[in-house]
Amino acid sequence: MQTLTLIRPDDMHLHLRDGDALKAVLPYTARQMGRAVIMPNLKPPVAQVEDALAYKQRILDALPPGSRFQPLMTLYLTDNTTVETVRAAKAAGVVAFKLYPAGATTNSDSGVTDLFKLLPVLREIAAQDLRFLVHGEVTDADIDIFDREAVFIERILKPVLAEVPDLKVVFEHITTAEAARLVCEAGDNVAASVTPQHLLLNRNDLLVGGVRPHHYCLPVLKRETHRQALVAAATGDKAHKFFLGTDSAPHPQHAKENACGCAGMFSAMTAIELYAEVFEAAGALDKLQAFASQNGARFYGLPENSDTVTLVKQAQSVPASVPMGEAQLVPMRAGGEVAWTLQQD
Ligand code: NCD
Ligand code: ZN
Ligand code: ZN
Repeated sequence: MQTLTLIRPDDMHLHLRDGDALKAVLPYTARQMGRAVIMPNLKPPVAQVEDALAYKQRILDALPPGSRFQPLMTLYLTDNTTVETVRAAKAAGVVAFKLYPAGATTNSDSGVTDLFKLLPVLREIAAQDLRFLVHGEVTDADIDIFDREAVFIERILKPVLAEVPDLKVVFEHITTAEAARLVCEAGDNVAASVTPQHLLLNRNDLLVGGVRPHHYCLPVLKRETHRQALVAAATGDKAHKFFLGTDSAPHPQHAKENACGCAGMFSAMTAIELYAEVFEAAGALDKLQAFASQNGARFYGLPENSDTVTLVKQAQSVPASVPMGEAQLVPMRAGGEVAWTLQQD
């Protein structure tokens, strides 16, 4: 049987939430990944260094016994973030600040209303060699939801990079050919995370034959040409700038299957296997290790993980749902199969 051994991967964009949800989802990631960059969009947001340190401890406490998984903590950028907070974050081992434009996505009410008022903070993020993670969508009501990422590049990202040229930016969960091109053409201080859903699915998977609420995430799935551009970027000449970031985000089933279903897909159960499907279909399995285990670590200035994982080309069934506290959680590919299986230790 075909097998594939990789340096243990890292998930550079992960939502773990807190409490029962944290306890339910963390073991899935800890089984696969050496580390994960932990998103700070809790309610209230993780905006102060003390919040991040306390949250980190709750994550460590929720780990299965013996796990060597390491959470990499981030802080939520708000209109009130100060230069002093940036310095304290660096001293405390926080790895990045995360931009949520106000109103752009799940739990973004405390997000930034005018990024250009925060230029001194961004300059300090660069000076402290922290990473700046962006949810790259504008929120203006007159901009079509399918155009919000492309407009963000012109109105926000390019002008910010012109003001702070040495800022190390991760354009998170990119979904468009425009975003892939921006990253390819920018300096090596600009990189991107790419999710399994944006590499595997297009907007037909959201809307054809009925609305599929479990395929609703933000930025919303785009047309097939954009999906192809993301696969080309992750396997092409500039592939060193693209890395694994699942954006796995647990929402209870009742909140997804709702008249106003919320945004986010839960992919952590079979994350590395889903990416293996993408790279296999592109004839680029030899590039999966760089994407999953090397490019992200290098961009964050971290060593690669010292152990390996092995994938077997054997289909696994994905359950229709799994428990999350009192609720149920519907994973990506629920009720279906994934073509690869991670070998148990
Ligand atoms: C994420 C979540 O649920 O926290 N949802 C999503 O659709 N991607 C937030 C985010 O990453 O934008
Ligand atoms: Zn986001
Ligand atoms: Zn996210």
